Amino acid sequence: MIVAIFGDTHGHLDEMYKRVAQWEARIEGPKIELVIQVGDFGIYLRENWGDFLKYYNGDAVATHPTVFCRGNHETQQWLMGKEGQEVATNILFLGDGKVYNINGLKIGVCGGNYSWKSYAIRRWTRERRYDTNLYTARPRKWYDHIMPYMVKELMDKEFDVFLTHEAPNHTGIIGRPQFRQQNDKGDYLPLGCPGFNKIIRDVRPKYQFHGHHHTFNKVRIDATTVYCLNKVDEHASSSQCMLVIDL
Ligand SMILES: [Fe+2]
Repeated sequence: MIVAIFGDTHGHLDEMYKRVAQWEARIEGPKIELVIQVGDFGIYLRENWGDFLKYYNGDAVATHPTVFCRGNHETQQWLMGKEGQEVATNILFLGDGKVYNINGLKIGVCGGNYSWKSYAIRRWTRERRYDTNLYTARPRKWYDHIMPYMVKELMDKEFDVFLTHEAPNHTGIIGRPQFRQQNDKGDYLPLGCPGFNKIIRDVRPKYQFHGHHHTFNKVRIDATTVYCLNKVDEHASSSQCMLVIDL
């Protein structure tokens, strides 16, 4: 299956499908059968916040079957009720801690970004996160983050592709200064989510795809080829924000 993987779109969905069309026009023969997007898709349900509303309303339609995980810039509470469902025609939202079989390709999913403080809160469970009574009582930002139970739920599963928004540790990405995290002692922490490395080590997916850091990067960790995709906008070069692989 020919798959195109894209970095953060932040609502630039027209631009993403334009690049798919350009790739198909350039290359004779294969067509892209699936689009995978790494989160910060741009689920904004207010006007003028990117293209998603057009697709949601049916004023635009995804040209290719598309799957995505959540980033840290989405309407999280709306997405919670949409896991495993199409949020617009041809656009399927993949929920955290789950494995989806898409035309025979098994994709393990964990969206959101890493905050060591949220990650240290062990009492988070799937039930608590989805408890609507807790929404108003908890900082909204927590819902953007990766919870340890999401990683745990993936540990005993099998999948070919590990799709996340955040990076694993040890990818070599330096990251933007505002994303550098310090622990209580003032030590800088390595960029990315350490739990993802456990999954890479134990589950051994063939590929790991992530975004969030707005850069392109490729590294091998154990048996897994790990790609960071750059963000999609009209200025990005296609070789940085889009990757086409036969999976
Ligand atoms: Fe992000």
